[in-house]
Amino acid sequence: MSETTVFGPGYAALYDHFYADKDYAAECDFVEEVFRRYAAQPVRTVLDLGCGTGGHALILARRGYRVTGVDRSADMLAQALSKAAALSSDQAPAFQQSDIRGLDLGQTFDAVLSMFAVLSYMTTNDDLAEALRAARRHLQPGGLLVFDAWYGPAVLVQRPGDRFRVVGDGSRRAIRFVRSEMDTLRHVVHVHYTVLDLEGDRVARQVAETHTMRYLFPQEMAFHLAQAGFELIALAPCWRLDAVPTENDWNVAIAARAV
Ligand SMILES: C[S@@+](CC[C@H](N)C(=O)[O-])C[C@H]1O[C@@H](n2cnc3c(N)ncnc32)[C@H](O)[C@@H]1O
Repeated sequence: MSETTVFGPGYAALYDHFYADKDYAAECDFVEEVFRRYAAQPVRTVLDLGCGTGGHALILARRGYRVTGVDRSADMLAQALSKAAALSSDQAPAFQQSDIRGLDLGQTFDAVLSMFAVLSYMTTNDDLAEALRAARRHLQPGGLLVFDAWYGPAVLVQRPGDRFRVVGDGSRRAIRFVRSEMDTLRHVVHVHYTVLDLEGDRVARQVAETHTMRYLFPQEMAFHLAQAGFELIALAPCWRLDAVPTENDWNVAIAARAV
């Protein structure tokens, strides 16, 4: 995986603004539907790999799960921690700064999540294998892994476009420009973000980050999961568990069971 800095301070500070309309509660409903349908016993403990600013971790903690969130970005975790201050100490997730690859917390959980294309940041086969092995290490046989990823068939048909977005309210506004370059041999898209953080009419700060994202194909997902000790149990368009993904579905959700 590229080690260039992503989710640094400028980007992390604006992350929740960029995704203010992302429906984390509905995504947690989907995750809970997977738990209800496929868990051998009730899920109580959850490890959220690449938890970011805690979008899923905090909602699941409020719903009664004991959640541990891991992320390598100190700046994303700082946002998560500040939001967690609103929860009681026995309810709040435990957050830890670490790379997913090679992670070993020395304990297992009932389920592992990795949400919002975190595994798409594992751009080489070795990185993906390491991340899936880390997920498996934190599950007993029968434990569940739920993640979402960019779906190769859709990315190849739709192709990523260039775009921009204005976010924020009166006091805090930012413009995020996106330019994408595809590398079809490596199954990745280099997504170049330029963010102008505005104060009034003034550009207070400019942030540039390149996120290299891997898109995954169904057979390689099944293969990598099997290599890491999982069986694939569901591959669905986000967030419709009973549907079959098509080339229209850029994001797919995957559920797997530890064997
Ligand atoms: C798109 S964000 C998703 C954050 C959160 N799951 C959400 O849904 O908002 C991707 C996150 O993955 C984290 N990440 C990417 N690669 C990682 C790695 N190798 N180890 C730990 N965290 C990683 C980033 O720091 C970032 O917070």
